[in-house]
Amino acid sequence: MNRPQDLLESYGASDPLFVVGQWLADADGVLPEPRAMALATVSLRGLPSVRMVLLRGLDARGFTWYTNFSSRKGTELLATPVASLVLHHQGFERQIRAEGPVVVVDRDEANDYFSKRPRGHQLSAWASAQSQPLPVLAELLEREAEAIKRFSGVEVPRPDYWGGFRLEPTVIELWQGRANRLHDRIRFDRTEAGWSVERLQP
Ligand SMILES: Cc1cc2nc3c(=O)[nH]c(=O)nc-3n(C[C@H](O)[C@H](O)[C@H](O)COP(=O)(O)O)c2cc1C
Repeated sequence: MNRPQDLLESYGASDPLFVVGQWLADADGVLPEPRAMALATVSLRGLPSVRMVLLRGLDARGFTWYTNFSSRKGTELLATPVASLVLHHQGFERQIRAEGPVVVVDRDEANDYFSKRPRGHQLSAWASAQSQPLPVLAELLEREAEAIKRFSGVEVPRPDYWGGFRLEPTVIELWQGRANRLHDRIRFDRTEAGWSVERLQP
């Protein structure tokens, strides 16, 4: 697969988010879930807390994903709005790490995204109180049936407790595997003047 020998030579030192976009484009249609990322938050007790989510938006502002605000991750992010995330593109030998403050995606953007989701996914956002205990599975299916009935014949609105978060990266590290574990690692730090760049030992 396409494996540049030197990241800075290949992409220049300008904008790591542009490179992330390139890497996602390389992986689209080739890897099964190129947008799956491990998202680490800070628990209410100050401990690490990690799970997978899907990257649903990438632009100059940062990395966006959608979830339930009352879920464990939602509660943690609202209490401590910082996160780090990592994507792994196996086969391309690439890793993308990012960290920084997290903001809530504005209503219009969240509504727009929600309106484009498959109806079944929209209904499950109403049926699932994500991260709350579920004594029996049948209860979830009952709540789905209730949502189907409630929104029969109308568009499913976005629940207030469901929306997006965006990590606005202050640090991005790009990792490109190379032979004999002499991997290329470039760390980008956001500064007032743009991104500062340094290469790290593998
Ligand atoms: C590949 C993959 C992608 C996922 N994407 C999302 C997602 O985009 N949003 C989400 O809320 N949960 C997603 N999940 C489920 C989460 O990993 C997690 O189980 C759920 O959000 C509850 O996490 P929490 O209790 O820490 O809030 C995904 C799981 C996997 C395995």
